[in-house]
Amino acid sequence: MLEGHTINLRVMEHDDVPLIVKWANDPDFAGDYEPIEQVTHREIMKWLDGLPADEKWFFIEKKDGTPIGQIMFAPLGKHYVIGYRMLPSERNKGYCTEAVRIIVDYLFLTRDIVRIQAETNPLNLPSQKVLEKAGFMKEGVRRKSVFIRGQWHDGELYSILREEWREPRVLLKPQS
Ligand SMILES: CC(C)(COP(=O)(O)OP(=O)(O)OC[C@H]1O[C@@H](n2cnc3c(N)ncnc32)[C@H](O)[C@@H]1OP(=O)(O)O)[C@@H](O)C(=O)NCCC(=O)NCCS
Repeated sequence: MLEGHTINLRVMEHDDVPLIVKWANDPDFAGDYEPIEQVTHREIMKWLDGLPADEKWFFIEKKDGTPIGQIMFAPLGKHYVIGYRMLPSERNKGYCTEAVRIIVDYLFLTRDIVRIQAETNPLNLPSQKVLEKAGFMKEGVRRKSVFIRGQWHDGELYSILREEWREPRVLLKPQS
């Protein structure tokens, strides 16, 4: 468990598969800028078992253990990429920003890496705000990089470098 100030991050396990399937099949959870998928319990079980050791998916949980979102990281060459989603009812409360800060702290504290990146739809202003609040910088556009709801969309690439991170913002830090 990675403990933050208002939320914790807990790695997904087999027991979580029913909830993963429920959320994965809910277009409202994906939001307006993420692909819509329909998956089965069996597919998710197989996917979870087949994840590479260094790719981790977490539930974002309130301090009482209520799951309110998901966040993941995966290696991309010598760097890492992250992604996240929140339940619609729990958006705009600062939870995702804290989750991203925790993952950034965790990756820079545990791995000798220099860069973490994320990609958002140009219209996904909440996601861009999350990344900026967590210290990421926009570095460019990947043209027609993702197929969403019948159309190819550009992706805005954001990154944070180790020297921009400098020190943990949530992990190992008491709340000020
Ligand atoms: C993107 C997402 C994860 C953000 O989660 P969240 O918990 O609401 O994020 P936070 O509350 O930490 O921050 C959201 C920020 O966006 C701002 N925001 C919300 N809607 C906005 C809009 N239409 N325009 C500009 N800013 C907006 C909020 O005010 C907040 O900023 P603030 O703290 O300065 O007020 C959530 O909207 C979501 O799950 N969307 C659907 C899935 C998705 O798009 N995932 C990301 C794919 S790249």
